[in-house]
Amino acid sequence: MPYAAITGWGKCMPPAVLTNADIATFLDTSDEWIVTRTGMRERRISHVPATDLAAVAGARALACAGLDPADLDLIVYGSCSYDEQVPNSASGVQVLLGAANAGAMDINTACTSFLYGLSSASALVRTGVVRNALVLGVELISPYMDWSNRNVAVLFGDGAAAVVLQASGREEGVLAEHLGCHADARQVLRIRGMGCSYANRGVLYGHTQWDFDGQEIFRRAVKGMTQATARALAKGNIDAGAIDLVIPHQANMRIIESVAKLAHIPMDKVFLTVERYANMSAATVPVALVEALEAGRVRPGALLLTPAFGAGLTLCSHVIRWGERVTPLGTSTAALPPCTRSALEMVNDYRALAARRAESEPGLRAPRFAESGPLA
Ligand code: ACO
Repeated sequence: MPYAAITGWGKCMPPAVLTNADIATFLDTSDEWIVTRTGMRERRISHVPATDLAAVAGARALACAGLDPADLDLIVYGSCSYDEQVPNSASGVQVLLGAANAGAMDINTACTSFLYGLSSASALVRTGVVRNALVLGVELISPYMDWSNRNVAVLFGDGAAAVVLQASGREEGVLAEHLGCHADARQVLRIRGMGCSYANRGVLYGHTQWDFDGQEIFRRAVKGMTQATARALAKGNIDAGAIDLVIPHQANMRIIESVAKLAHIPMDKVFLTVERYANMSAATVPVALVEALEAGRVRPGALLLTPAFGAGLTLCSHVIRWGERVTPLGTSTAALPPCTRSALEMVNDYRALAARRAESEPGLRAPRFAESGPLA
């Protein structure tokens, strides 16, 4: 059975930066609180749709692999913030890239969507269903953020990144992984206002309110990422000491430190972006992977570990063997259009829109749903 080697990588970060000080202009918070509790200093706000970020990241990954878009057999788009529900986002990327021969599917497991997508695409490559695949992690959280809620508004940012997978005879790509879900705690992170359940009840799509039990998510994240890591290492018969670099989901610096400690991996082997980009949900791990490569932190043949968790509460950890090449074969000219507004201006637009909606529909609230029990 062939392996699914990662032969291309690329990211697309929107240029507008929202600092902690910017957020403190409209919420009762401070740079000091955010830095000490989360490790975050700034995040990005996109001026373009998610699919545009995705297409630029995808074009860069394809150029890096030296692969013509027409040779792609599959596009997997990992995200929980689609521009539209129907048609899917992967098909939008297919059009923008000119990848006319590719199948196109979306995967939503929230923050772990890229990694679940990586597992799915790797399995399809390894079983010979496809030979070349593009896997994207994309998130555009700013439009559906509840910017009046300091518990969540400080934690997230926008971004996108992609990898190219190609069938290979060498032992590289995903060697072992564990996928799981603490569904008994799915209610601790819910965005009310996104989905048919709300639209059918007259709630405007995008009129969001976040149910977010930060402390419970924190506990579950540490437990889930640590367990998933232990299981993935055991499946691959790999010792934690053999891991060269950990590229974790970055929802909170303190979560990352706890997981590294419990997994017996020193922090100097952990690659961090949380300070500059905050939590970009599905985009977090692939953006960090690309930046680790750009920074020369991934050596040829390195063994990587990518523990992550997300709403659901989904969790996973992957052990990835990197190939011999750590530099791009080519570069793409794809780029975003210029951004003419500041991040704070864009966020203030979202806030003004939310305020107008609240005025025009007083009393309208996304309903709460009772959790269903197991089927009898
Ligand atoms: N600024 C100032 N004060 C704040 C803020 C803020 N932005 N947010 C909360 N506070 C206040 C709270 O109201 C509380 O005040 P109180 O004591 O008067 O009630 C106080 O700070 C402490 O709140 P805690 O919840 O105890 O703070 P904690 O240290 O637990 O940190 C945090 C909160 C950052 C949310 C943490 O629990 C966390 O990181 N949880 C996991 C977050 C996460 O993983 N999110 C991603 C989910 S999955 C996915 O990626 C989609």
